[in-house]
Order: sequence, then structure tokens, then C-alpha cells
Amino acid sequence: MQAKDRIILALDVGTREEALDLVRKLKDYVGAFKVGMQLFNSTGPEIVKTINELGGKVFVDLKFHDIPNTVAEAGKVMTRLGCYMFNLHAAGGREMMKKVAGEVEKEAARLSISAPITLAVTVLTSISQEELENDMLIAGLKVEEVALKWAVMAKECGMKGVVCSPHEIKAVRAACGPDFKIVTPGIRPLWSEKNDQKRITTPKQALELGADYMVIGRPITKADNPKKAAEKIIEELEG
Ligand code: C5P
Repeated sequence: MQAKDRIILALDVGTREEALDLVRKLKDYVGAFKVGMQLFNSTGPEIVKTINELGGKVFVDLKFHDIPNTVAEAGKVMTRLGCYMFNLHAAGGREMMKKVAGEVEKEAARLSISAPITLAVTVLTSISQEELENDMLIAGLKVEEVALKWAVMAKECGMKGVVCSPHEIKAVRAACGPDFKIVTPGIRPLWSEKNDQKRITTPKQALELGADYMVIGRPITKADNPKKAAEKIIEELEG
């Protein structure tokens, strides 16, 4: 994989115009674009097709969490839309993940297209140890242990990878093997502002820890020269 293909640009904008402007500008500098709840819900699913038509791949970040049949049907929609990756909550359980993994493959085969990379979100990095125990009622385990166990469960269910914090990459890689895709946010080059990210990792460190893809937003989108910023990150990854 080329260094640029590892970068997933977070399109954290509210309009189609802003998003497509970034896609046109940066499609040769990044591997894919992440469309999250803000953009997807503002523009509708056509945004995925439009980005594809402009030559960009799309990670649809909607974090599905529902009963197996409902999420499997949503996964089939994602497949037909032509997204490159989409995600769901591992907390939805084994049956849900198995059904999604199977139905996505079947739908892709039926249409003779490539199947999207199915990713599981384990424990959100915004959840503290206290919340895990007192509100989510998962007692006796550390956040990192739950995240790792759920990553392993996702793999056993046929999911293709996980989204996880840079701090979990090493353990997930060791437990889930070389082919399991690891996507990580919380990335900041040394020259970039931290914004609201707390525990950050540089692109190079994330790569060395074993990440396949890194989600990067503001260090590129808010840079004075976004193309230069992306190029600088690519150089760092290659160096
Ligand atoms: O601008 P920035 O590089 O901080 O964007 C990071 C992207 O990754 C945002 O879309 C954010 O929602 C997402 N993300 C994150 N931390 C997580 C999960 C997702 O920053 N733990």
C-alpha cells in the first residue's frame, strides 16, 4: 500500500459544496474520505456516489447499532452505494456482526462488485473507566481490555477490521493478526495543532505501531495549504 492510501481525510463539514471542494483539492493526496453523521445527514447518501464519481473512495462513519437484520440491511445499502468502508458498534453483539459480514459479502457477489471493508467500533475513546463501570455496567475490566476482547470478537464474526485508539493498536494487531485492518484517529503531526485531541500520535508512530489507515481531519483541512500538509504527512510516512 502507498503511503497516501493510508490517509483517510475526515470530511467534518456540513455542506456538499465544502465537502466536494475538499475532495477535488485532495483526492490525489489521500486514500479515502470519511463521511460522518454531520455530512451524511446533511446531504444524503448521494454524497458517497458523487465522491466516487470524482475519483475518491469513501469511509461511511455512521456506527450502526441495531438488531442483526436491520444492520445487515443497512450494510447491504452501504455495499450498493459503493462505499469503501463502513462501521458498526461491536456492542451490537456477535449475531449482528456475523449477519452483517455475511450479507455484505453476498450482496457484493450478487452485484459483482468489491465488498466494503466492515469495521467494528469497540469502546468509544470518549468513554471513561467510570462510565464503563457505573453507566454501562461493565465491571471488573479495564476499558482497554473490553476494547481488545471486542476486537477479537469482531474478527471471529467475520468483520474485516476495527477503528481503535492509537494506544490499542499494538494489542489488537497482536491478537487479531496481520490481515485485520486497523483504522485509527487521534493523529497529529508534530507541526500541527492538537485542537481537542488529547492522547495523540504522529502519523509515523501510528504506522510503526501497526495501523493500516489513519483518520486525519484538521491537520490537513485547516492548514494554510492543505495539499502541502498532506504531502508533508505522506513524506513523513515514507521516510
Ligand atoms: O480533525 P481531526 O483529525 O481531529 O478529526 C478526527 C476525526 O476522527 C473526526 O471525524 C472524529 O470524529 C474522528 N474520531 C476521533 N476520535 C475517535 C473516534 C473518531 O477523532 N476516538
